[in-house]
Amino acid sequence: MDAETISFYPRPPEQLRDRFARQLTYLRISVTDRCNMRCDYCRPAPDAYRAESHAQILRYEEIERIVRVAAGLGVTKLRLTGGEPLVRRDLPRLVEQLANIPGITDLSMTTNATLLEKYAHDLAVAGLQRINISIDSLNPLRFRKLTGGELAPVLAGIQAAKAAGLSPIKLNTVLMRGINDDEVADLIDFASDSGATIRFIELMPMKQGMDWQQHYIAIDDILKRDDLLQRVELSPMPTGNSAARYLPLKSGRGKVGVIMPMSERFCEGCNRLRLTADGGLRACLPADHQLNLRDLIRDGGSDEAIRATFLRAAMLKPEIGLYEFDTEREKRSMIHIGG
Ligand code: GTP
Ligand code: 5AD
Ligand code: SF4
Repeated sequence: MDAETISFYPRPPEQLRDRFARQLTYLRISVTDRCNMRCDYCRPAPDAYRAESHAQILRYEEIERIVRVAAGLGVTKLRLTGGEPLVRRDLPRLVEQLANIPGITDLSMTTNATLLEKYAHDLAVAGLQRINISIDSLNPLRFRKLTGGELAPVLAGIQAAKAAGLSPIKLNTVLMRGINDDEVADLIDFASDSGATIRFIELMPMKQGMDWQQHYIAIDDILKRDDLLQRVELSPMPTGNSAARYLPLKSGRGKVGVIMPMSERFCEGCNRLRLTADGGLRACLPADHQLNLRDLIRDGGSDEAIRATFLRAAMLKPEIGLYEFDTEREKRSMIHIGG
């Protein structure tokens, strides 16, 4: 084969590696910093929170362009987050645009599911493959107190996701001492009956209205409890790059996941970058640096400049993400970064 023939073949994507030889293949995209719930652990105090104006939020075409460049750098996995992604208008259109980008093989979303009954079918048709749903209580009154929202539409959303063929369905529960830690067994049974995988997450001290010291509970403490030991085997399954570790259910009907950002960091295998709704590219959830892709694009920046920004973000990724407990930095709130 001569050199000209070879050039007809597509170039293999370049790889996005950080200083610690981790390959970054997973981009979490926050499509809005608005939400129709107000979970105590996520949302900053009302006086510290101001949603970005429409003009400041990336347009779908801008997100698509960024993802095309990212895919050329070896990003294969996308997750849409918020705020609540489904409060953004016409989200299936974005899903379709992203699903058609060569190189994207895993397209998913993390949602509170309140609007999912309405959109699950359209999302699946547009190319969404799977979905992660936040559910912190099965008790309607408690759910309302914790999130400001209603449980019934969330349950309907889970059913709609199943009917639409989104698979797997993962349920995320942030465990909080004295708030929902008595529901571990019920949540495991509920997930198992629904054909979903439940994952318990340790509370992170993001800037929010909840007392972290009072409500934090280490997953290890949960794993000692009888109600859990009756249900799961304490023999972790292989994890890969996932933030979750999985334990098989004794019933043989699936597995339970645990995500331990506080007690057992999973930074070593981290493959993630985050794009905020207003176009900030972040290399690590708790780290503060972010590079402004929105202004770069709107100032006429080339694809090459976007590419260079990704490479720079990768270089900024710390070896380990550290949480500070006394921060006043509003940008830290989950609703801006998308969890
Ligand atoms: P899968 O690809 O299905 O494993 O999803 P995921 O776990 O990457 O995504 P999801 O949005 O469901 O993540 C669940 C929660 O885990 C997030 O909301 C965060 O609370 C936490 N989490 C996910 N990624 C990170 C991370 O990089 N660092 C930290 N500290 N927490 C994370
Ligand atoms: N600690 C742990 N997880 C959080 N999330 C938001 N805030 C926190 C926090 N302080 C995660 C939850 C939620 C998703 C949207 O973000 O998993 O379901
Ligand atoms: Fe909204 Fe999710 Fe934050 Fe709850 S955790 S306020 S549902 S973005």
